[in-house]
Amino acid sequence: MAVQRTLSIIKPDAVAKNVVGDIIRRFEENGLSVIAVRLQQLSAAEAGRFYAVHAERPFYGDLCSFMSSGPALAMVLEGQNAIALNRQLMGATNPKEAEAGTIRADHADSIDANAVHGSDSAENAANEIAFFFADLELNSRIA
Ligand code: CMP
Repeated sequence: MAVQRTLSIIKPDAVAKNVVGDIIRRFEENGLSVIAVRLQQLSAAEAGRFYAVHAERPFYGDLCSFMSSGPALAMVLEGQNAIALNRQLMGATNPKEAEAGTIRADHADSIDANAVHGSDSAENAANEIAFFFADLELNSRIA
């Protein structure tokens, strides 16, 4: 299994609930390391650029206004199989379908306010990491 990097966002709902620490603890306890982090309130236009892949979907407008409704915590996670592992820890996009014990099962309220985002492929991870962070801001933790 290869070491990978993936982008994780703790969304405005989870930041507002003060569960940032609980979410990062789950990543760390499962072998993922934070190698870059920033708390930032996106503008609706910035959220729109980040989610441009969904521009034609009916939920795009609501998604952009929700993602710009308060500060979100963007971070880069590094570790073995980080992309799939992060998605496994998050649970299904719709919290009603998320497996018990996952981040979304425990902290998400709806498909929009679903606590976390995680890259879904190596290509998207590279693009999403570059959206938030410069190469010099990534501090590899691999010994
Ligand atoms: P996320 O993993 O951040 O990727 C896109 C987001 O769009 C998703 O989480 C959801 O919060 C939101 N969304 C709203 N409706 C839907 C839907 N029907 N299918 C997928 N994502 C949706």
